[in-house]
Amino acid sequence: MTKNLITAVIFDLDGVIVFTDKYHYKSWKMLADRMGWDFDETLNHRLRGIPRLASLQVILDHNGIEASDSEKAEYAGMKNDFYRKMLQEELNRADMYSGVMDFLDALRARNIRLALCSSSKNARAVLRKLRLEKYFQAVVSGNDIEHAKPDPQIFLAGACKLEVEPEQCLVFEDAQAGIEAASAAGMNVVGVGDPRSAPGADKYITDYECIDIDDMLRTGNV
Ligand code: BG6
Ligand code: MG
Repeated sequence: MTKNLITAVIFDLDGVIVFTDKYHYKSWKMLADRMGWDFDETLNHRLRGIPRLASLQVILDHNGIEASDSEKAEYAGMKNDFYRKMLQEELNRADMYSGVMDFLDALRARNIRLALCSSSKNARAVLRKLRLEKYFQAVVSGNDIEHAKPDPQIFLAGACKLEVEPEQCLVFEDAQAGIEAASAAGMNVVGVGDPRSAPGADKYITDYECIDIDDMLRTGNV
């Protein structure tokens, strides 16, 4: 039997395992409406994979608004309160990416080590709500890192926790910053979704059902 190239699979969370986009959008929109700021889906798209405060800055810049650090913390806190309420009241397994549950089960059955590396500080709360914690031997969230994607820190920390080398890892990412981070970490990377919205990966998928898992583990590609 040929040895697999891939022994660990690392997932981003938002837009890769679960479509939290709509909740991020709705909560930024609630803040923007309350503050009288302009905010729409196009601007929301630019926030994908970007940490909370950096996302706020994109919205402030778009509206030509200057704010102090304490005001920014307050605005970001308001948005997060809206978001956390939606996670508790609305988020459910119907929000998950098509086929991803079977994909996780199939990887687990093959003893592949799994990590979740997400810029979100709510990553653990999302995993808990979806009852997915047991799948991941390592979780690295926005709370655990100093340098956000596209810096490779988050993925290198994930590999380190799993005790595997970067070249043994395959990363699934939907955001350009994440694809750049995984590549900079020296990992194989698969883009999730439309290549036009997040260029830079060798291969892209739009659903997990189409993946030949054994071939993927052998070659590091889909
Ligand atoms: C990323 C999302 O995963 O997490 C971004 O793609 C989000 O849209 C970022 O801004 C930070 O999330 P949170 O939950 O810490 O506000
Ligand atoms: Mg993402």
